[in-house]
Amino acid sequence: MFQSVPYNILLLGSGGREHAFARSLSASPRCKHLFIAPGNAGTAAHGSNVSISPTDFPAIRDLVLREDIQLVVIGPEDPLVQGVVDYFREDSELRHIPVIGPTRSGARLEGSKEFSKGFMQRHGIPTAAYKSFGKGEVKEALDFLSTLSPPYVIKADGLAAGKGVLIPDTLQVAEEGVREMLESGRFGQAGDRVVIEEFLPGIELSVFVLTDGRNYIILPEAKDYKRIGEGDTGPNTGGMGAVSPVPFADSDFMHKVEECIVKPTVIGLDQEEIPYRGFIFIGLMNVNGDPFVIEYNCRMGDPETEVVLPLLEAVAEQRLDRMELDVDPRTATTVMMVSGGYPGNYDKGFGIRKLDQAGDAIVFHAGTTMQDGSVVTNGGRVLALTGFGVGIAEALEQSYAAAKAIDFDYAYYRRDIGRDLMSVNHSTE
Ligand code: AMP
Ligand code: GLY
Repeated sequence: MFQSVPYNILLLGSGGREHAFARSLSASPRCKHLFIAPGNAGTAAHGSNVSISPTDFPAIRDLVLREDIQLVVIGPEDPLVQGVVDYFREDSELRHIPVIGPTRSGARLEGSKEFSKGFMQRHGIPTAAYKSFGKGEVKEALDFLSTLSPPYVIKADGLAAGKGVLIPDTLQVAEEGVREMLESGRFGQAGDRVVIEEFLPGIELSVFVLTDGRNYIILPEAKDYKRIGEGDTGPNTGGMGAVSPVPFADSDFMHKVEECIVKPTVIGLDQEEIPYRGFIFIGLMNVNGDPFVIEYNCRMGDPETEVVLPLLEAVAEQRLDRMELDVDPRTATTVMMVSGGYPGNYDKGFGIRKLDQAGDAIVFHAGTTMQDGSVVTNGGRVLALTGFGVGIAEALEQSYAAAKAIDFDYAYYRRDIGRDLMSVNHSTE
């Protein structure tokens, strides 16, 4: 499938995940030139940013043909759920170009909670018990809620930018949530159907699988920190930091993950004739040592990519069934610097100072752009600062040294990334 002479690569997306991909892809001897659409001020150091939206398929088509692109890597979920891979497969001039990402049917693992829950049920994959309901079924949904105990978990079926999950503590708030989704159109079409499921207590973990539809490899696992506030408080964000590897994901636990979740997922996709070439991100809950799937995503995580990819020193240039990963034995941590106000309203366009003072940490740009020759903030999540060390504490020293040195107006970062995992370490010693 791949040529041995270097070729041009296109990467879609503009966040910290894409900066991490851009850094790794451009370092490959197989990469002739990297294009990033639309990219950010950080990705520009690794290739050419092109101002095209990842969901503007005709513009992507023109770019691919004009620049003789021979490989396309998709960062975010939107183009996948909207069928970018199908668009390539259905076009006689694009058909032969490999795209890393699933077709629309595979992207339903992320794009429809109802589909992904049904998939897990069909293939015996451990997940929370659930029922799903449509617009005309408010009464049935409320009846089902009343059979559960708090906290309640209510999910909009479709993509809702990470905001479609409610976890209320009381039945009254849960009922309001269901009504808002099914009756008042909160979350728009994404909430036309809802999944109501059992609450799973435990610690979360993200596992990443790269598959060609038959074979797979499991990448280093990571834990991310989703809430804005220290001590996991306040509203959910895209992710405020990450750690990899995760101490409690020992070989016993990961063996269960592979046997009970990864294998039945890859085999299940094949059995359902869903072609899947790309990443599967499995959000798991560790419930007393047993893994349960919270969600699938059809792409890599952000900020997890910023800790996982830098740990992959070399990927042997072979087919996936013969591929071996060379994983850096150190720990990587990333701390996200965000705009004050995020995940609510925030201002953009502030100059970022001392970007060259990050020491040994890697600075991945998440929401930045160039303005009059300087780098300025351009999003909620602004920079992902990745440090390395023997253990979490040492890696965090690098991440936090960079966070203290770099500065922009109203910058905020969590000071407790990885702290829970360090106390887990201590208690098992
Ligand atoms: P999701 O978008 O499905 O990943 O859900 C967002 C977040 O809600 C997850 O990262 C979990 O922290 C939490 N969550 C979702 N489903 C459950 C569940 N069944 N039990 C406990 N927490 C959950
Ligand atoms: N960090 C979680 C996500 O990428 O969805």
